[in-house]
Amino acid sequence: MIIRLKNVSYCWPGQQQPTLNIPSLEVEKGEHLFLHGPSGSGKTTLLNLLTGINTPQSGQLEILETDIAKLSESKRDRFRADHLGVIFQQFNLLPYLSVLDNVLLSCDFSKTRLEKAGNAVETAKQLLLDMEISGDLLHSKVSSLSMGQQQRVAVARALIGNPEVIIADEPTSALDTDNRDRFLDLLFTESDKHGSTLIFVSHDTQIQHRFNRMVSLATINNVDNASDNNQINHNQADAK
Ligand SMILES: Nc1ncnc2c1ncn2[C@@H]1O[C@H](COP(=O)(O)OP(=O)(O)O)[C@@H](O)[C@H]1O
Ligand SMILES: [Mg+2]
Repeated sequence: MIIRLKNVSYCWPGQQQPTLNIPSLEVEKGEHLFLHGPSGSGKTTLLNLLTGINTPQSGQLEILETDIAKLSESKRDRFRADHLGVIFQQFNLLPYLSVLDNVLLSCDFSKTRLEKAGNAVETAKQLLLDMEISGDLLHSKVSSLSMGQQQRVAVARALIGNPEVIIADEPTSALDTDNRDRFLDLLFTESDKHGSTLIFVSHDTQIQHRFNRMVSLATINNVDNASDNNQINHNQADAK
């Protein structure tokens, strides 16, 4: 099991009620998991726990058999840099850096990722090509690219050095249908190449059929505003 949550509860500072109270969630190696929930239901809060940006007040949360809440803040940062490829909702690209340098950042922050990337510059260039970012854009400031292109740069940055887990927070929200489908093709192809596990968060249920498994946050989250008539939906036809 790559990810294992048991009785995880998280309450934002100053809030009366916990945002999350999750009795159980497990994700297997290589799974493409679609985590669905309406706006404000706690999807990003959950991803913040998975990435160790925040830590739960109670419960166990293991990623790659590591209880990340027990690590010091600096060890958590290192763990994230070494093992997780994160595509943030707002991309978090550095606007003043070039396209290429934004992708190489992942290797600057992690020796593990740098070693796994081989020739990092060549690997970054290939990933960008795979993401349909043409070579003449490599040295452009990333802020001069379109939203769709920036999204794909953020994916290349998440994928370089083959992290075991890819976590994506609503990465398709700014894309039209054609671009969204192509984007998903690229993301799946690249994550499958290295057997990476993909946790993909979205409120857009039109794309859920492309994933191995769909989990509704309302179903797994035991808080007052959670509805109890949603079902965990195993998309057997797409399972592989
Ligand atoms: N930085 C924050 N500080 C305090 N409360 C927050 C913060 N971010 C989110 N929350 C609370 O958590 C709830 C869930 O937010 P979020 O995880 O961003 O939902 P989603 O990603 O599903 O739209 C919000 O309604 C809000 O009450
Ligand atoms: Mg969110």
